[in-house]
Amino acid sequence: MAFFGSSFLLVALSVAFFFTNPTFAEPGRNVTDAEISTICAKTLSPSFCSRLLSNKTLHANQTDLHGLAKISIGLALAYASETHATIDPLIKAARNYNEREGYVLCSKNYEEAIDALRDAQRMLSKQDYRGVRVESLAAAEEAKSCEHDVGIPSSPYNPPLQEKIKNFNNYCNIIWAITNRLVE
Ligand SMILES: *[C@@H]1O[C@H](CO)[C@@H](O)[C@H](O)[C@H]1NC(C)=O
Ligand SMILES: *[C@@H]1O[C@H](CO)[C@@H](O)[C@H](O)[C@H]1NC(C)=O
Ligand SMILES: *[C@@H]1O[C@H](CO)[C@@H](O)[C@H](O)[C@H]1NC(C)=O
Repeated sequence: MAFFGSSFLLVALSVAFFFTNPTFAEPGRNVTDAEISTICAKTLSPSFCSRLLSNKTLHANQTDLHGLAKISIGLALAYASETHATIDPLIKAARNYNEREGYVLCSKNYEEAIDALRDAQRMLSKQDYRGVRVESLAAAEEAKSCEHDVGIPSSPYNPPLQEKIKNFNNYCNIIWAITNRLVE
């Protein structure tokens, strides 16, 4: 009887949970394309987000929200590493001390951004979603510092790097939007 009582309570609780929690953050439930669009609509650039996450090689709709966060952090990390690699040649090609120093600092910023995203991966594996959100903001801040270090958009003007910083901000913002769902 006691057993029946407690299972009844459990069922009642899960039914209540189901009806009071209309989010799609339940672990193990795959996100739908519509849910991905909803998340992307909350980002700085919904079209950038949708284009990125609809890439078939990612299988974004074949994983749960936690998995989607993992995919997005992986994409941001790859992009940050790729950008970091493009800064070395800029340091070598710098025409004067200030320009060189700017790129050296920018390179350090990207190292910090990469560290922040690796921390985000560790926090994600511990389901510390608030921690992941903090790290995604920290990573974006580092890229913004790079923009400041190299004097974008004033001289020396570097459109390709400026574009990469803007894109990276979008990547970090996607992680932020996903973790907002996970902490709900
Ligand atoms: C999942 O994504 C693929 C490729 O983007 C799409 O073709 C498919 O219809 C999607 N499936 C669902 C259930 O949303
Ligand atoms: C999709 O992702 C793959 C692997 O990361 C990449 O090579 C490809 O260019 C991407 N496609 C688009 C349309 O972005
Ligand atoms: C999520 O998608 C994966 C890959 O298609 C599939 O193996 C798994 O069963 C799906 N999970 C759920 C809960 O539908």
